[in-house]
Amino acid sequence: MVKDGNNSAADFLPDKLDLESLRIAAACCEGCGLYRNATQTVFGEGPGHAKFMLVGEVPGDQEDRQGHPFVGPAGRLLDRGLEEAGIPRDEVYVTNAVKHFSFVPRGKRRIHQKPTAAEIAACRPWLNAELAVVEPEVVVVLGATAARSLLGPAFRVTRQRGVPVPLGERLAVATIHPSAVLRAPDREVMYEGFLADLQVAARAA
Ligand code: URA
Ligand code: SF4
Repeated sequence: MVKDGNNSAADFLPDKLDLESLRIAAACCEGCGLYRNATQTVFGEGPGHAKFMLVGEVPGDQEDRQGHPFVGPAGRLLDRGLEEAGIPRDEVYVTNAVKHFSFVPRGKRRIHQKPTAAEIAACRPWLNAELAVVEPEVVVVLGATAARSLLGPAFRVTRQRGVPVPLGERLAVATIHPSAVLRAPDREVMYEGFLADLQVAARAA
């Protein structure tokens, strides 16, 4: 019997590591409590040997309903950034640090909640497996949650963004989360910084 919040996705990994078997196995993951209230697992998507892997935080409301990563407002901003940075969409694998929507209900709305450190850790085996299969040259780390998962709790996105750092045999470039750009009062300034970081990632490959 799987106990809530006390486990890990590691218990659900398939024997064979390829994107198809990972996706099928992840659909049944109960590695933390988030699967209970979310609609479905939102696994990463993109070509099997993408040059770039983009790692967000957690699926949002739209992603949870549709079952695909970054298909809501943050995804549209991300698409714009990728295009302007000259990163072709067919060289990009997109995923999240945590693969089930995390929210609190408020009336009919579902309000996004930051995943906990335990949930980030529980979900990490999926991200490890995606990295092992896709073998991207550059990992673009979108925001503090992805940074916590991939670069550790001491990493500070505000201070260390936009500079390639080693991540095993790969390079990682951290930037702010596209949702932070959307929420910012000075949205264009924030967007320019976000774009500059994506351009660093483009050149790092
Ligand atoms: N925000 C994320 O971090 N990931 C998504 O897939 C959508 C919004
Ligand atoms: Fe499994 Fe991750 Fe979903 Fe938790 S969030 S149930 S670890 S896929």
